[in-house]
Amino acid sequence: MNDSAQAVAVVRGRLGDVRPRLGIILGSGLDAVAERVTWAESIGYAELPGFPQPSVQGHAGTLLLGRLGNTEVALLRGRSHYYESGRSDGMRCPIETLKGLGCETLILTNAAGSMMPYAAPGSLVLITDHIALGLPNPLVGESAAERFQDMSDAYDPELVKALNDHARGLAIHIHRGVYMWFSGPSFETSAEIRAANHLGADLVGMSTVPETILARFLGLRVAGISVVTNYAAGMGEEPPSHEQTLRAAGDAADDLARLLSAFAEELGSD
Ligand code: HPA
Repeated sequence: MNDSAQAVAVVRGRLGDVRPRLGIILGSGLDAVAERVTWAESIGYAELPGFPQPSVQGHAGTLLLGRLGNTEVALLRGRSHYYESGRSDGMRCPIETLKGLGCETLILTNAAGSMMPYAAPGSLVLITDHIALGLPNPLVGESAAERFQDMSDAYDPELVKALNDHARGLAIHIHRGVYMWFSGPSFETSAEIRAANHLGADLVGMSTVPETILARFLGLRVAGISVVTNYAAGMGEEPPSHEQTLRAAGDAADDLARLLSAFAEELGSD
C-alpha cells in the first residue's frame, strides 16, 4: 500500500466510513473556517503516513473531517511549502488522500500580497489563473500519461462563478486575479513585483500552485481563494512580514468562512 492508501486506511480506521466530497486546504491564519465545521474530528499529520510536518507558525498540521453546511468536508490545516524543503511535491500525499477519501473538488486558500490597488489587505480574491515560471513542476519524475496535464482553465470557471455568486449573495466583496508563485521564504523585491505586474499577475504568494498542478493531475476540480494580507513589496506603506500576514488573514477569515459555508451548503443540496 502506498502512503496515501495507508493514510485513507488510518482515517477510516479511526472515523469509520467517512466520504467527504469537498476538500479544503487552509492557508496561514485562516482557522475561522475550521471553527465552522460541525461533527469535527481531527487527526494529526504525525499519524498519517506521507503527510508533511509543518514548520510554519499559523499552520496546525491536522486533517479535520466533519460537515460544513450539509456537506461532508475534509480540511487540511497546514501545508508544506517549497521553501521548507526545496520540494514542490510535498502536498502530493495529502491531496491523494483527499481524493482517496472521496473528494471531487478541492478549494485552495492562501494568504497573498496584492498588486491591485483596489484589493486592499483584508480583501478576498478568486484566483482565475496562475503564473509559476520558477517552480520545479511537482510532476517531474511522474510517468503516468496524465503528467501532460492540460492547465488551461486549471481553476474551474464554474467554481469561480459559483463562489462569486455566493459572495454577492452574502454581500462579501470579492475580486478576481492571477496569482504568481514565488519560492520565498524571503519576500519579493520591489523590482520583482514590478516585473510580475508586467507579466500579468495580480497577486503574489508562496503556495497553492504546486497543489493546483497535483490536484488537476489527480482529476480534482480546483478553485483558489486568496486572502490579501498586504500590498506587495514596494506598493504599500508597511513592508510585507509574516506577522502582518497572520493579522490580516485573521481579519478576513470570517468572510472566507461564510463564503465557504454557503458554497458547501449548496454542494450538499445537489
Ligand atoms: N509575497 C509572497 N507571499 C505572500 C505575501 C507577499 O507579499 N503576502 C502573503 N504571502
